[in-house]
Amino acid sequence: MAKQLRVLIVDDAEDDAHLIVRELRNAGLLLSFVRVATREALTRQLLDRWDVLLCDYSMPGFSAFEALDLVRQAGIDLPFIIVSGTVGEARAVEVMRAGAHDYVFKDNLSRLPLAIERELREADNRRERRRLQEQLLLSERMASIGVVAAGVVHEINNPLTVLMGSAELAVRTLSADAAAADNAQKTVVHEELDRVLEAADRLRQIVADVKLFSHAGADPVVSVDVTNTLASSVRMALHETSGRCHVVTRFGDTPLVALPASRLGQVFLNLLLNAAQAIAPGNAEHNEIRITTFTDETGWAVIEVADTGCGIPAQVQKTIFEPFMTTKAVGVGTGLGLFVTHRIVSDAGGRIEFESEVGRGTTFRVRLPASTRPSSEPSVGNSAGVLPPSRPGKEGKRSGSSRRAYAELASAHA
Ligand SMILES: Nc1ncnc2c1ncn2[C@@H]1O[C@H](COP(=O)(O)OP(=O)(O)OP(=O)(O)O)[C@@H](O)[C@H]1O
Ligand SMILES: [Mg+2]
Repeated sequence: MAKQLRVLIVDDAEDDAHLIVRELRNAGLLLSFVRVATREALTRQLLDRWDVLLCDYSMPGFSAFEALDLVRQAGIDLPFIIVSGTVGEARAVEVMRAGAHDYVFKDNLSRLPLAIERELREADNRRERRRLQEQLLLSERMASIGVVAAGVVHEINNPLTVLMGSAELAVRTLSADAAAADNAQKTVVHEELDRVLEAADRLRQIVADVKLFSHAGADPVVSVDVTNTLASSVRMALHETSGRCHVVTRFGDTPLVALPASRLGQVFLNLLLNAAQAIAPGNAEHNEIRITTFTDETGWAVIEVADTGCGIPAQVQKTIFEPFMTTKAVGVGTGLGLFVTHRIVSDAGGRIEFESEVGRGTTFRVRLPASTRPSSEPSVGNSAGVLPPSRPGKEGKRSGSSRRAYAELASAHA
């Protein structure tokens, strides 16, 4: 059975709506429709699923511009065709600029079926492009996780060893002479169980960090805490940074920002991995990655990742955000990191910029507008073991083994 087209008509004239529907049915389109003529009714109908919206240019107390605004606010990609009496060309252009997809005059309705078919095809193309984009972002994130996976497994191994050793010792101490357990034995058991809990807590934190990055598909856009996400990303990258540099964090107050935590983490992880890869291993004492966050004068969150690495030559700087632009060896870089990072930041209404000097290092700066959406804290916050936001102006510095660094980073923000 052919699919029924669901048509939403915004028109105050019932007769006109019937003329439109008759024209479409005569052209062989199978359709169901609803007609609305007010802001309230349209808002309600936009909760439903529609294939196309046909809107009159102006109605008493309502206009195509307001209707376009409501569709935009609803965050849906709905083919929007103006079907109206003749209005001047200037007005038609104006409403197209405001986001309408096409314009058909009521005295030339025979053009409407073709216009609808074309807009449905275009909407399909847009959907497919979004799906591919989504897939690209996800594969790039998975590739970054691949880079840090060995390090994360290593981080899991350490607390696991402590946990098993301490649990075994506690059990042995208890079973040695359970009946006559004296105070000294009780103290040993207590200490070992404390170590077990500590190790289990570190494991929980690692799991929360990995979980934050491994969300597939399009997560809901909610407000996320920059510091929590940044701290997770630093922990995920620790194995890559240790042996190359200190990681110095100076987390200031920042507003919540509106993008999925996994995407924000992807931005930070890309910048951190690039910074680490720009520093040759073996001279950790003299190199650092400095991460600074603050709120700028316009209320936006600013995140800076500065490294003392090799810097970026002027020639490379020009193409740094282009896809597949890499100076790294095959198997090390695909050249998608900054392309995807730029896309995520711009989609969130933010900006990314950098300064670099060959031989001295590079600073990347991400600016993100403050969110007006509800907070997602319960799902990625402390309950999941992610680091709590640091107090303003707090500075942490870590170096040496990634295991110690992991623990230090955790306690620096506890
Ligand atoms: N902090 C940095 N210091 C020096 N060069 C950098 C830095 N960040 C990026 N670059 C340069 O920009 C290029 C593009 O970076 P991008 O992150 O897009 O790709 P990649 O790191 O090469 O590969 P991928 O991120 O896909 O693994 C890098 O190959 C490198 O030459
Ligand atoms: Mg990269």
